[in-house]
Formats: sequence, C-alpha cells, structure tokens
Amino acid sequence: MSSERSSFTGKIGFVLAAAGSAVGLGNIWRFPYLAAKYGGGIFLLVYIVLAITFGFTLMITEIAIGRKTKLSAIGAYRSLNKKFSFIGYLAAIVPIIILPYYSVIGGWVIKYLAGFVSGRGDAMASGMTYFGGFIGTTVEPILWFLLFLGLTAVVVLLGVEKGVEKVSKIMMPALIALILFIAIYAIVTIDGAWEGVKYYFMPDFSKFSIMTVVAAMGQLFYSMSLAMGIMITYGSYMKKDISIEKSAKQIEIFDTGIAILAGLLIVPAVYAFSGGDEAALGAGPGLMFGTLPQIFDVMPFGDVIGAVFFIMVFFAAITSSISLMETVVSIIQDRFHTSRRMTCLIVIGICLLLGIPSSLGFGLWSNFTILGLSILDFFDFISNNVIMPLVALATCIFVAFVLKPKSIEDELEIGGKAKKRYLFNIVVKFIAPICLIVILVSSVLNVFGVISI
Ligand code: TRP
Repeated sequence: MSSERSSFTGKIGFVLAAAGSAVGLGNIWRFPYLAAKYGGGIFLLVYIVLAITFGFTLMITEIAIGRKTKLSAIGAYRSLNKKFSFIGYLAAIVPIIILPYYSVIGGWVIKYLAGFVSGRGDAMASGMTYFGGFIGTTVEPILWFLLFLGLTAVVVLLGVEKGVEKVSKIMMPALIALILFIAIYAIVTIDGAWEGVKYYFMPDFSKFSIMTVVAAMGQLFYSMSLAMGIMITYGSYMKKDISIEKSAKQIEIFDTGIAILAGLLIVPAVYAFSGGDEAALGAGPGLMFGTLPQIFDVMPFGDVIGAVFFIMVFFAAITSSISLMETVVSIIQDRFHTSRRMTCLIVIGICLLLGIPSSLGFGLWSNFTILGLSILDFFDFISNNVIMPLVALATCIFVAFVLKPKSIEDELEIGGKAKKRYLFNIVVKFIAPICLIVILVSSVLNVFGVISI
C-alpha cells in the first residue's frame, strides 16, 4: 500500500493542504468565543505559549510518525508497536464525534448567509436575542444542518474535493483581508471598542486559572487538527525532502494568525456592545452569530459585506467538514472494508444520530443536559478536553519512553536540520505529560463539579 501513496507536490503543497484542513470554524467561531470567555489577553498569551511549545512538538511528532510509517493513525501506531495501536483507535474516534456537531454549526453559518443574501441582516442585529430564538426552534436549525451535511456528503460522494479546494484557495486570502478590514472598521467606529482591544491584547493575570489552560489546550488540538490522527495522515503523504519543522511552523503561524484576527474582529465588538459585561463575553458557542450582525448593522453596505463574509466563512467551514468526512470515511473503510458509497451512508447515519440531538439541545431538549452541558457542548467537551488530551498524553509517553525521541529526530533530520531538538526532548518527556495530566484531571473534576475553577 505504501508504494501507492501519492505525495503532495512541492514544498508549499503540503503546508497549504494541511493549513486548509486546519483553518475552519475552529479559528473563526471557536477561538473568539473562548478568548472572550476566558479573560481575553490572558487566554491569548497562554494559547501562544502553548502553541510554540506543546503544539509545535505534537505537530512535528505526528507528521514524523506519518511520514515514517506511510500509514494513517491506526496502522501507524500498530506498525510501530502493537501494544500501542489503541492510540490510533482513540484518535480515530475524535473526528467521528466532531463531524456531526461541526455540521450543526455549519448549518447556522448557512442560515446567516441566507439571511444576509436576502437582505434581512438588520433583523439579525439584536445580538443574542435573535440567535437564541433561532437555535431554540425545533425544525429550522435541523433543516440547515441537513443542508450543510448534504452538501458535504455530495462533495465527498462525487469526489469533487479538488474543485472545492480550488475555490477555497481564492476565498481564504479574501477572507483574511475582509476580516482585517471589518475589524479595523469596527474598532475605529464603534464607541468603546478600543477598551475591548485592550481586553483582548493585555493579559490580566488575575483572570488566570487552570481552566484558561484547559480551554486553550483543547482549542489548540481542535484548531490545529492535532491528537486525532489527521496530521499523521498528512505526514504519510509528505515527501522526504521537505522539512517537517519548517512546515509545522508555517502551519502554526497561519492557523494562529487567522484565529487571532478573527478574535480581533469579534471580541472588541462584544466588549463595546455590552460594556464589558461578563455574561455577554461568556456567551459561548453563539457569540459570533450574535455579534457579527450587530457590527454589519452599523456599517455602510452592511448587508452586502455580511453576505460576502458569511459566504467565505461557509467555504472555510465546508472545506474542513469535507476533510473531516473524508477522514471518517477512510477510518471506517479501512476497518470494515465496506464500499465507499456504503461507508458514506453509514457516516451520514452517524451524523444524523449525533447531530440532530446536538441541534435540539438548544431548544426542545434544552432541559436534557449531560454533566451540566448542552448536548453540543458535551460532544465538544468530551472530544477536545478528554479524548484529545488522552491521545496526546499517550502519544508523548509512547514517543518519549518506548519509541524514543531519537527515532522522531532522525525523521526530522531527513528533510532539514532538526533545530529544535532540545525543546522537542524536554517537552515530549516532561512538560507535555505533566501538563496533560494536570489538564485532564482538572477538566474532568471541573465538569463533575468537584472543583470549581
Ligand atoms: N481544525 C479545524 C477547524 O479549525 C477543525 C477540524 C478538526 C478538522 N478536526 C479536523 C478539519 C479534521 C479537518 C479535518 O475548524
């Protein structure tokens, strides 16, 4: 099988493909709401420190494992050491949990896109009121979810990912430019936004708690598609003459840059509209949908800008959901040897089973919570704050003490000099395992209400 693996062409091909999968709703929707909720500047600082140390280490490790074995996660861990093949299975569960609720949020994006395209942007500008009303209804959010899921499935079934990728390559730079433009416009024109910029960039250490680290770490996994086997798969297609370290650095800069920009668009505006009210800042998953229409409402040509903006966000979201669905399909296909079409149907079935309850959890089923979380938040929590840290912990222990860091370093050396050997060694052996254990224990204790942080 390994000899049939196609490779990414050229140096930039790998980075673009990996970054294309990494950049999605995680950057535009998830990062800003977490940054707003967990104290602004302090969250940003913790996130950047983690990205440079921990995220970097995990990313080069996963890419190196993929390139070394030329296999996807399950096969890769199995081929390195039979006893550790469980890491591959654990990693494989993550995209299966993420895809359904990712599609629910993708549905919200289409709803807002449709709203702006049809010129009803001003109706959405009531902040969280409109949004809360929308997700609280039973049928409508499910229909939008089905549309998003259906579009994703059609692309995967017809195998036309390349076409979508081409479009999204144009959309991505345009999206960055638009975010920057809207952010600057909002900061300059909205009263009180400057205070929000300070909140976003100036770390307030009194707002630091272990939950800041828990949230930042979960976000890091999610946004960079780490600890779920994705980077192993990407690595398996990577040519030997490309530097893993350099590529990882570029992916990280790209991914983090877009997340920080999206935060700059949303956080100062929420701050200004709410006067820095904690409840507004802590609004959670709906934050982007409540805030953006308010910004567009005060902008000239706001409806048009809003429409263009949501079209671009839609493309960022669908490229990620396509690659998520591809991943899930290939995991199931490898394991059960089902036909591609059959596998797609199975995956759609799983998405309906998990996605519809996620959507209903904000309305009809809002009284039903798991560990105090709504259904969608529960899936988000269990994947990002429990399974992914577990996968990362197992990976670090495996690499540090069984496989030995040397074997990863040798792989790093093939396509370029391994400059960060020292960092890699101490992070993988000591810092990462200790941090991960602390994080796992505190996030679980927190959700069980044993400790409140
Ligand atoms: N990183 C993506 C984002 O920021 C989401 C994501 C998680 C993803 N896992 C993935 C995308 C796997 C593609 C493949 O939105």
